[in-house]
Amino acid sequence: MFGKKPEQRGANLWQEYWGETYAPELKQRLLKPLFDELEKEGKIGNLIVDLGSGAHPVTRLLAIRPGRKRVCIDIAADNAGSVDELRLRLDAEKIGQLDQMSFRKALLRVCGFLEIDLRKDAGKQQVDTIVIADTLNYVDFRKVLNGLANYLKPNGRIIILNLPYRGNHTLFSDLGLKDNRQLYPVLEERGFEIEHKSFPKRPRNETDESEELIVLVARKMQAQT
Ligand SMILES: C[S@@+](CC[C@H](N)C(=O)[O-])C[C@H]1O[C@@H](n2cnc3c(N)ncnc32)[C@H](O)[C@@H]1O
Repeated sequence: MFGKKPEQRGANLWQEYWGETYAPELKQRLLKPLFDELEKEGKIGNLIVDLGSGAHPVTRLLAIRPGRKRVCIDIAADNAGSVDELRLRLDAEKIGQLDQMSFRKALLRVCGFLEIDLRKDAGKQQVDTIVIADTLNYVDFRKVLNGLANYLKPNGRIIILNLPYRGNHTLFSDLGLKDNRQLYPVLEERGFEIEHKSFPKRPRNETDESEELIVLVARKMQAQT
């Protein structure tokens, strides 16, 4: 570790876990019906970003459709890909930071994948849906949501599945999500409307939302400045 930049240190720590799956059955049970419902209403769209995707992105639960493309961002990703899925190694906290070489390189790869012109189209709000499963504990969640929101189309959606404060504590960010209620003002300040939130594992009669497993859908209401 000694002598390495923080970004490299982070990537290496996560590298050890690359390939592991994280409660896939539970995620399938919770996310598939939600994806299906949104899909039926035409609310998923064609360009999907899966942030902190791991090696088994939950967005693979979405149907493959002509024109649909998924960009799976992960600090430990292997940079492989196919016609409809790009796996992109990137520290999510760098998203939107054009002064960072790693972000500029990632943007270039995304433009190649989407067959769009970097100079003309890269800054545009192109993304229909962003999915973030089990990742907000590990990153500066405010920075990541702010960075991502700029790339989402108006009316695009962020879908979050998270279990605050639970997971691999040694890898948690000090600025990670510690309490679900921290999410609401951050999203609202960025012009999102929370369309859906549920706490599928919350014990009956429990009303506290703070540290329960949350599944949330937020719609971007207006163009970001
Ligand atoms: C608990 S796993 C969740 C994986 C997958 N989303 C799932 O639900 O099964 C957290 C993922 O976040 C990634 N990650 C952690 N910090 C990150 C960062 N700063 N930028 C991008 N990805 C990060 C890790 O490499 C890991 O794959």
